[in-house]
Amino acid sequence: MQAIVCKAWGPPEDLVLESVVLPALQPGQVRIRVRAAGVNFPDVLIVQKKYQQQPALPFTPGNEVAGEVIEVASDVVHLRPGDAVVSFCNLGGFAEEVIAPADATHAMAPGLSFETAAAFTLTYGTSWHALCDRAALKAGETVLVLGASGGVGLAAIEIARAVGARVIAAASSADKLALCREHGADALINYEEEDLREAIKRHTNGRGPDVVFDPVGGKYAEPAFRSIAWRGRYLVVGFANGQIPAVPWNLALLKSASLVGVFWGEFVRREPLAHEAGMASLLGWLSEGRLRPHVSRTYTLAETAQALIDLRDRRATGKLVIVP
Ligand SMILES: NC(=O)c1ccc[n+]([C@@H]2O[C@H](COP(=O)([O-])OP(=O)(O)OC[C@H]3O[C@@H](n4cnc5c(N)ncnc54)[C@H](OP(=O)(O)O)[C@@H]3O)[C@@H](O)[C@H]2O)c1
Repeated sequence: MQAIVCKAWGPPEDLVLESVVLPALQPGQVRIRVRAAGVNFPDVLIVQKKYQQQPALPFTPGNEVAGEVIEVASDVVHLRPGDAVVSFCNLGGFAEEVIAPADATHAMAPGLSFETAAAFTLTYGTSWHALCDRAALKAGETVLVLGASGGVGLAAIEIARAVGARVIAAASSADKLALCREHGADALINYEEEDLREAIKRHTNGRGPDVVFDPVGGKYAEPAFRSIAWRGRYLVVGFANGQIPAVPWNLALLKSASLVGVFWGEFVRREPLAHEAGMASLLGWLSEGRLRPHVSRTYTLAETAQALIDLRDRRATGKLVIVP
């Protein structure tokens, strides 16, 4: 079977498509025919040795797939060949087939396409954990979403609206902001053209947002944290900008504000029941049409490197998906 292979640490341009033979199944594993694989920011980082996980070379990246079960190990009871599933395979997803842990593989929600299923759980799960669980967002509060047209950003807009919050979306271009509006944003800020602090003041009558959802980091973090409302919660989701901000701690004191970390993968491992409750809420909102996952582009397996390049170079909106 064909798979994308990272043979040496480096940019996505160095990835190759090769014929690979998968090993026999070990206990607790399942073999899946990949119908769609979601592209996530860690995929861009992991091939460059810039991610917290550094697998042995060579390896196949890709950690979120949807597909059909081909084979299960003899100790796996909750899955059967032919089942449509989503799986967090950790690695190996950018391939025609992947061997995944059975306990990270679950029946696909009914009514979803493989593309949507592969684009849903990680991004919406992260944004739910951040807004609903870590920030305890309430109806009537105001949320500022940075990087709002990206994967977790668009999901955050929709989830905040589903909760009944008001959403200010911040992104770098008019096109990206138009997409945020389509997905429910109430107010828009182009943070490449406008002064972020002034724009936040204008859109909140000087009060500031109750919650800031930040998957970007870098230069936007300090003005956003300075603008937060009394008792605000600042969600540290990611650093797509590449720079981890160093924000003065006195800003937290001045607003009685909280700096709140968000680590979805570890949340799922440590608190599986809370994660399941979150997924149930999300699937409910999805069936009511309140969430509309946006797959902006699909790529063939051979085009995987281009998908990672587009994500790295800030050209993606919503989610990118590989369809082997
Ligand atoms: N904590 C967790 O559990 C968790 C889970 C999932 C993802 N994440 C992290 O969240 C971040 C966003 O993930 P995502 O999947 O939403 O990515 P994404 O779709 O690429 O969105 C990131 C957004 O960041 C903005 N950005 C600003 N500077 C950038 C730069 N130099 N390079 C790339 N993007 C830049 C872009 O919007 P503009 O062009 O509009 O600025 C882009 O839309 C990543 O750091 C990811 O690792 C964390």
